[in-house]
Amino acid sequence: MNQTTWRSPSNIALIKYWGKKGNQLPMNPSLSFSLDKAFTETTIIFSGGTDSNKVDVSLTFEGHKNKHFEDRIAKFVNSISEYIPSLKGLRLEIDSYNSFPHSSGIASSASSMSALALGLVSIEHKLLGQITHFSDFQQKASFIARLGSGSAARSVYGGYSVWGATPDNSLFSNEYAMDINDLIHPVFKTYGDAILLVTNKEKKVSSTVGHQLMESHPFADSKFTESFKNMELMLEVMKKGEQQDFALLTELEALSLHAMMMTSNPSFLLMEPQTLSIINKIRDFRLQTGLPVCFTLDAGANVHFIYPDKDVKLVKSFIESELLPYCVQKQWIDDKVGLGPVRLT
Ligand code: DP6
Repeated sequence: MNQTTWRSPSNIALIKYWGKKGNQLPMNPSLSFSLDKAFTETTIIFSGGTDSNKVDVSLTFEGHKNKHFEDRIAKFVNSISEYIPSLKGLRLEIDSYNSFPHSSGIASSASSMSALALGLVSIEHKLLGQITHFSDFQQKASFIARLGSGSAARSVYGGYSVWGATPDNSLFSNEYAMDINDLIHPVFKTYGDAILLVTNKEKKVSSTVGHQLMESHPFADSKFTESFKNMELMLEVMKKGEQQDFALLTELEALSLHAMMMTSNPSFLLMEPQTLSIINKIRDFRLQTGLPVCFTLDAGANVHFIYPDKDVKLVKSFIESELLPYCVQKQWIDDKVGLGPVRLT
């Protein structure tokens, strides 16, 4: 059967991508880990092989025809067919679903675009069989995923990855992400991430608009400079296994991201009062227990509470008693650093 299915995770950035240039190139490098439970599963059935230069796409999302997504994905697939010419003339029937609810505020672009990119590169491989190393396959999938959504470039790897060129490591690139698991201390590889769902309302401002606002942002240049420095520091701290410094740096990056939103013109605020209550609780907990726990934030109100897995018992009872009262219907996702995408066919 001419079919490919990939399950690909969402990821959470510790050093944030916020601001882009050219064709989906980041203004500063970013670092993230892939999640375990939050993923998209995408099946592509391919057929045809006409002379046409077009890729014919039909799409169902969670079992239903979705014209809006279909148009977007058809446009995307046709735009990247110059990099995967064997797609031209094919008919693709795409079916996709997310493991997390649409209203949970978890960004689905990273998981959905990476799952799609992995599928498209698999089709190329099935038809041409030119890629011999899995790392080349991943790199190409990351490149294609990036063109769909920047953060998706990082989701093609398990554990930790970096997307964006840095002055210190010539392997890092703006074009695709790289696996950095060999560069970091094992203590970080089993961290937990409790995603605390603060709201199920639609975001007030999309990431696309947020990135655009960075183009005229008065503090943009210093933000990018700081994120370059934070990336260098983060790689050092993670190599050495310095968990307390990791916690402080992660929080600094998260709040710097939201500071950019608050000082854009027009300004916007994605945190809710419960977001701040949770942040304060986590900081108090760190102070009282000395545990190297921390929070980070995506472009939304939800809080990612990040902790070493050896402290899971204490952390979970803290979540239950102190943090869940701030979550919408006490909802949270008990996630952790994940192993990355899985090919299901
Ligand atoms: C705050 O990757 O969603 O999550 O490239 O326009 O699709 P596009 O943006 P997107 O931006 C993600 C921003 C972020 C930080 C991050 O994941 O690095």
